[in-house]
Amino acid sequence: MRILCIGDVVGNIGCNFLRSKLPTIKKIKAIDFVVCNGENSSDGNGITPTSAKFLFDSGVDAITLGNHTFRRKEAYEYIDESPFVARPANFPEKTTPGTGIINIDTGRRIISVINVMGNMCMDNNLNCAFETVDKMLEKAEGKIKIVDFHAETTSEKRAMGYYLDGRASVVFGTHTHVQTSDCQILPKGTGYITDVGMTGTIHSVLGVKTEIIIEKLKTKLPARFDLASGECKMECSLFDVDEKTGLCISAESLRIE
Ligand code: FE2
Repeated sequence: MRILCIGDVVGNIGCNFLRSKLPTIKKIKAIDFVVCNGENSSDGNGITPTSAKFLFDSGVDAITLGNHTFRRKEAYEYIDESPFVARPANFPEKTTPGTGIINIDTGRRIISVINVMGNMCMDNNLNCAFETVDKMLEKAEGKIKIVDFHAETTSEKRAMGYYLDGRASVVFGTHTHVQTSDCQILPKGTGYITDVGMTGTIHSVLGVKTEIIIEKLKTKLPARFDLASGECKMECSLFDVDEKTGLCISAESLRIE
């Protein structure tokens, strides 16, 4: 089966661009399942029920999240109840809305989608990403297992890829909003990319107006992050997975403008 993993969708502009491109790409590439990172899908960071619904209505099958997951209180109940949204699994289990793994029954197969956050340079005290992902894999009901590793450093992300090699079908990195050039199949058969990239405005800093970020970095003062506008891109990776083995047989990155 063919799986498309889409990089962090930023704001209304990213959502609208995804909607303008995804249906055609799905048809042309014969894609069976789409997972995208939606933690920035609402303007002003975070996800809302409205932005999640917009992504699902545009052809997304599962949404993963990250460090901005709980920025919007109005989304807590939605995250808790949606069977198609996974939040980082390494938050405290008993008190956090939602779940770190979703098992989606498509009728023909069960696809398990896991979301884990990194520990390095992420300004958090979350549970160990490696221990957490092991616990989530025990809960996976499907042969096909997709992991979104939402993390900052390339070293932690590549380590996670090799840690899961042969145990996950696909491991795709998110959070940096910059697509890396290492989309590949690891030695034991896991499809992998360090960071799948971003869906949003091309001339921006991670989706935000460039001048705001430059000023913030120069002055060290807080600033409101207004989203940039202009030409967009949708960065994503395409993985073919053998349904019998659950392992990846081809991996390629795409940048759709
Ligand atoms: Fe993030």
